[in-house]
Amino acid sequence: MKTIYLIGFMGSGKTSVGKRLGAIMNKPVIDTDEVIEKTYGLITHIFKHEGEEAFRAYESAVLQGIPVKDRIISTGGGIVESKENLDYMHYTGIIINLQASFQEILKRLKYDRGRPMWNQDINDRKKLYDRRQHLYETHADII
Ligand code: S3P
Repeated sequence: MKTIYLIGFMGSGKTSVGKRLGAIMNKPVIDTDEVIEKTYGLITHIFKHEGEEAFRAYESAVLQGIPVKDRIISTGGGIVESKENLDYMHYTGIIINLQASFQEILKRLKYDRGRPMWNQDINDRKKLYDRRQHLYETHADII
């Protein structure tokens, strides 16, 4: 089986759907954020002390370090920020984009304080959402 990559905005359900899919398909599930935290420390700490650029470098290293067969991989919402990540996922698997409306994400992440990219005012959240939505849709094999 080709690797399945789940992409989508924060709160779109990548981690939950990944786990469910893994159980149904009886395949291992890997969450890139989880591997980053195990390897490099808490995401909030990385953003605060090393910055987004360092986080993105860790994210790419983790993505490209996962064996690419028979896996379901749930990614972080910003994995699509790197052309290298996009090319890598295309080359090694199938990309599935999970979508939820901005209003729905607002509800789901209302009390969330663990996502640095969400920790900004509502106009900037919406701008990020729109820009990312375009990237997800352009690069997904299945939406
Ligand atoms: C990010 C999304 C987060 C995590 C990090 C950055 C982003 O993952 O990788 O906080 O840039 O959208 P989730 O999409 O699982 O929340």
